[in-house]
Amino acid sequence: MTKKLLVSNRAREINPSPIRKFLPMAERAESRGIKIFKLNVGDPDIIPPGEFMRAVKAYRQKNLGYAPSTGILRHVEAWQKYYRRLGVRLSRSDLIPTVGCAEAIGFALQAVADVGDEVLVFEPLYANYKSFAVMLGIKLVPVALNIGTGFILNSSKDVEKKISSKTKAIVVINPDNPTGKLWSEAELYMLETLAKKYNLFIIADETYREIRFSGRPQTMLSRKAAAQNVVVVDSISKRFSLPGARIGALASRNAEVMAAVLKFAQARLSVGTLEQYAAIPLLEHGKPYVSRLVKEYKKRQAAAVKGLKKIKGAKFVASQGAFYQTVALPIDNAERFVEFMLADFSYKNQTVMATPMQDFYISKGKGQNEIRIAYVLKVKELAKAMDVLARGLEAYKAACLR
Ligand SMILES: Cc1ncc(COP(=O)(O)O)c(C=O)c1O
Repeated sequence: MTKKLLVSNRAREINPSPIRKFLPMAERAESRGIKIFKLNVGDPDIIPPGEFMRAVKAYRQKNLGYAPSTGILRHVEAWQKYYRRLGVRLSRSDLIPTVGCAEAIGFALQAVADVGDEVLVFEPLYANYKSFAVMLGIKLVPVALNIGTGFILNSSKDVEKKISSKTKAIVVINPDNPTGKLWSEAELYMLETLAKKYNLFIIADETYREIRFSGRPQTMLSRKAAAQNVVVVDSISKRFSLPGARIGALASRNAEVMAAVLKFAQARLSVGTLEQYAAIPLLEHGKPYVSRLVKEYKKRQAAAVKGLKKIKGAKFVASQGAFYQTVALPIDNAERFVEFMLADFSYKNQTVMATPMQDFYISKGKGQNEIRIAYVLKVKELAKAMDVLARGLEAYKAACLR
């Protein structure tokens, strides 16, 4: 009997990135001469610190060898310094550099959960977690946070009722993508208490740590009560506007987790050598750059909020951090709306590309009327984009909602 040539189930199950799947349509619009305000990808437009490129250019060695799987010593020391400024002392073995936060997410999930295990997430959710879950055979169990109640977790019971014998971890993204939510002390305490009570890991995704419009940057690593439960996944992609550098880290005080992560890291050999060197000055002295960056995002948030307030029927909670805004619109299907904006609409030869939010949910049927916008344009452009979005919405209602 001949066997069919078939790819794996997970290969068939995994979804394309909701953020990237409209790119072909955008290309077609651009080839028609339409200017697109691209608010879809969290790819910062801000120039990164000059030190990074200077360090790349100053690399003098003739070889570009593998770095150690544990990370280049000076690079790890730079992370340790960075964390010390946050009031956290990490030993060398508490942190392993990764290929962006994306790799750290995969490592963290693999370290704490087996095939068939469950991991609690709050939805809407940074959609990449869904892809990792499919790749690793892990089931994500959603706890709903709602735009109507400001995405606040009001009761630990909402989480508790989702915990089963298979639950291994809770993921918390702070500041959050896609909602722009900052987790309050009360909410974090709730999660910490649950993690202790039920022996769960907390995977804290702190990619956007400094990008918050009030209060001081925080890390779950400073929560001593749950020190063994916490696994932080981190990145320089956003705070230093360097997503292409692919530098992140995983940090935990749990020695067993770190021993496992080291073995995963050995399997993938190493993180880029050049980039690890070039990131050192930023981790050591990057604070002034980050302060300027946050000021810029704050201005953009204000511009976006001002524009959104003028959109009839738009509902949103002003983003408190990261550089995203979830917006509910009076529409039936956000994917259809985004397609309409790219294929059927333009105002003075301009349109807007946002991200439909259906794929940011695990529960079927949610997010139908929600889009996410990323503040990756300068204030003036963002203001124009909000105006074009408002006009696009009216055109969509007239053409598609009758
Ligand atoms: C919440 C969150 N985690 C992780 C990542 C991935 O970051 P990196 O570029 O460091 O892989 C992103 C990227 O947008 C993100 O939004």
